[in-house]
Amino acid sequence: MPEFQTTPGTRDILPPDAARWRRFVDVFAGVVESAGYEQIILPMFEDLGVFQRLGDATDVVTKEMYDFVDKGGRHVALRPEQTAGVCRAFVQHHPNLPWKVWYSGPNFRYEKAQQGRYRQFDQVGVEVLGVDDPLLDVEVIALAHGFYRALGLRNVELHVNSLGDTGDRARYVAALESYFRAHEIDLTKESRATLERNPLRVLDSKRAEDRDVISQAPSISEFFSPEAASHFAAVQDGLSLLGIDFVVNDRLVRGLDYYRSTTFEFVSTALDAAQTAVGGGGRYDGLVEDLGGPSTPGIGFAIGLDRTLLACDAESVFGIDSSGTDVFVVDATGGRSALLLTAELRNAGLRADRAFGAKSMKSQMKSANKSRATVAVIIGEDELARGVATVRPMDGGEQSECPLGQVVATVTDIVKKAK
Ligand code: HAM
Repeated sequence: MPEFQTTPGTRDILPPDAARWRRFVDVFAGVVESAGYEQIILPMFEDLGVFQRLGDATDVVTKEMYDFVDKGGRHVALRPEQTAGVCRAFVQHHPNLPWKVWYSGPNFRYEKAQQGRYRQFDQVGVEVLGVDDPLLDVEVIALAHGFYRALGLRNVELHVNSLGDTGDRARYVAALESYFRAHEIDLTKESRATLERNPLRVLDSKRAEDRDVISQAPSISEFFSPEAASHFAAVQDGLSLLGIDFVVNDRLVRGLDYYRSTTFEFVSTALDAAQTAVGGGGRYDGLVEDLGGPSTPGIGFAIGLDRTLLACDAESVFGIDSSGTDVFVVDATGGRSALLLTAELRNAGLRADRAFGAKSMKSQMKSANKSRATVAVIIGEDELARGVATVRPMDGGEQSECPLGQVVATVTDIVKKAK
């Protein structure tokens, strides 16, 4: 066993998996940029206070924060998510409204590590600040839905709920608390502890012993103001108009405290692990104000990259791209020809590789095979003397000789035809 290994909850993403990660982000960028979202890159750590706005009753803040005092005496934390950072940046930079941004990158939560739940995990997401319109909620949800489709996923269910406006939510939490207090005896020890911290989160218990009490609990819909009810109805209407299937789940509570009004989660039915939420989001109309900015509506979502890729594996979609390089140069004359030719081929936009260390022709051909190149370009002493190279399609096609000056054009032609 080597002395050092990755610490629990972190992983090395090796090739070829890492290329799949990058493709994931590229596909996401394509989907959201076509809807007018622009990329934002935030720091990975910020003042702890920024993240405390996620709610002092949430596990993310109370138990899972990677926080520390830096050498300058600042209490900072690694970001557990990016919504709070986007709102902090909004308050700091006063961009024009509406502000539509997307992001990707790692987040950190000190969670119990298991399949699909890591301490460092990646997300892609969007946030929109400055628009209070249910049709924006529909756009945002539709974007996430469209992205799962673009990956090829079919078994992702959309759950939607509304937590009402701030007043509705507060009255609901109070009603839930008194209901659960009256039934405390029938709750598990864990849920009784959750009740002390955050009655809403009791609804999130997956323990079978809690099921009966939770199923009889009051529903948020009984507490909606007329405005909240009509906002939620308009969201559902818009989703139906776009033909997006959804389930109204009045037990859907998100893990972060900033949510108001529309909330949603995407659940993979192809995953049988405990961790099936592949993405989620909602409105957080009070968060900008909490961070010292003007009252500004906000909505967004984040999609868990690690977990969504597990769902892709389970559905056998969005696999690893197994294409190799375009061309492998085999040079049995010492390597200078390969140096020149690979440079020319790369400048022409081809993916070109070669072997090093003056290996034998046979061993270089082995490397060419391994690289899964479309074409091998072979130069032996005889070819060099005549100023030519052998161009060999690796799929068994007929090889030919061409002058060194025409290698790039010949290879480009073969690679194009093979694609
Ligand atoms: P979240 O539900 O905490 O929301 O995270 C979104 C997604 O990130 C989850 O559905 C899951 O796929 C993934 N995820 C979360 N924690 C882990 C973990 N420990 N390991 C692997 N994947 C994980 C947010 O983060 C909000 N910022 C979403 C949002 C944006 N709401 C409004 N705007």
